[in-house]
Amino acid sequence: MGMTALTIDAEGLKKSYGTRTAVRDLTLQLRCGVAFGFLGPNGAGKSTSIKMLLGLVKPTGGRALLLGKPVGTREVRARIGFLPEHFRFYDWLSASELVLFHGRLCGLADDVLRRKVPYLLERVGLGSQDSKPIRSFSNGMMQRVGLAQAIVNDPEILFLDEPTSGLDPAGRKLVREVIREQRDRGATVFLNSHLLGEVEQSCDRVAFIRHGEIVGMYEMGAWQSAQTEVEIKAARVDSASLSRLAGIEGLVVVAADVQLGGHRLRLRVPSADCLPEVVRCLVENGAEVFSVVPQHVSLEDLFLHMMGPDPGL
Ligand SMILES: Nc1ncnc2c1ncn2[C@@H]1O[C@H](COP(=O)(O)OP(=O)(O)O)[C@@H](O)[C@H]1O
Ligand SMILES: [Mg+2]
Repeated sequence: MGMTALTIDAEGLKKSYGTRTAVRDLTLQLRCGVAFGFLGPNGAGKSTSIKMLLGLVKPTGGRALLLGKPVGTREVRARIGFLPEHFRFYDWLSASELVLFHGRLCGLADDVLRRKVPYLLERVGLGSQDSKPIRSFSNGMMQRVGLAQAIVNDPEILFLDEPTSGLDPAGRKLVREVIREQRDRGATVFLNSHLLGEVEQSCDRVAFIRHGEIVGMYEMGAWQSAQTEVEIKAARVDSASLSRLAGIEGLVVVAADVQLGGHRLRLRVPSADCLPEVVRCLVENGAEVFSVVPQHVSLEDLFLHMMGPDPGL
């Protein structure tokens, strides 16, 4: 598969259950080496979207190709990995037997798996528990086995549906690391989550889904640099300099208040390139500038803006 080929190519995927529409129009194109975060509240349609891409749920409309081929075929399944949101594994198997079994299902040879299974179990922190039946495992340990089976075949696409539910902070960190490793190895990672922080820390691109509809899609780097905000502390800011500031192209005065000893201005600027002009404008109008501090616009700010004040999280 070439570097530029699409790994996921979905056009207008739709799923209705009776009169209820779970997913309205999933149109998405992803390439290898990208971690994609699908964010939305419970019931938004995230799991249904993944299941349509995997061929586990039959779409009511639209079409999708995975790795250039129709979804759901054995050949494609052997090249992808999946950690379901709710999974039930054969719980009489040990952790290594389970991962071995999934490796065999993907068509991997036993001599490959003999080296790979212990490595993977070590990677997910179960090195010392590999021969215990997984029925004795906690939810968190089960989730770690699930992660190991999902990457046993070095998948070209890795689907993770709420992978950190039931995980402690160390487990959540492990998931983030695995996402980055797989992405850096060249996989497309498709992460379903309702946790903003999780997606913010591990994904290159995000989409927000609400009531079955994608309401926004962003490149992480792009929206961060496109949404630069700065906080300025200055004294002797008069209304003339404020209106001069507001005249700078693309600049928005988000907040301006007077505090003890001076002004606090919060400005949204199209890019950091216009900061010298901002400072010059203030100084030329007689202000004294004490600090100019870039502000981080979090994914949460963006999410609340997209979803409205009550996103139902
Ligand atoms: N098998 C099903 N039968 C009927 N309704 C379903 C079924 N699966 C999902 N839904 C409904 O579709 C909507 C989206 O569900 P889901 O994709 O599981 O959301 P999410 O994963 O974002 O929480 C929900 O309203 C859910 O109740
Ligand atoms: Mg779900």
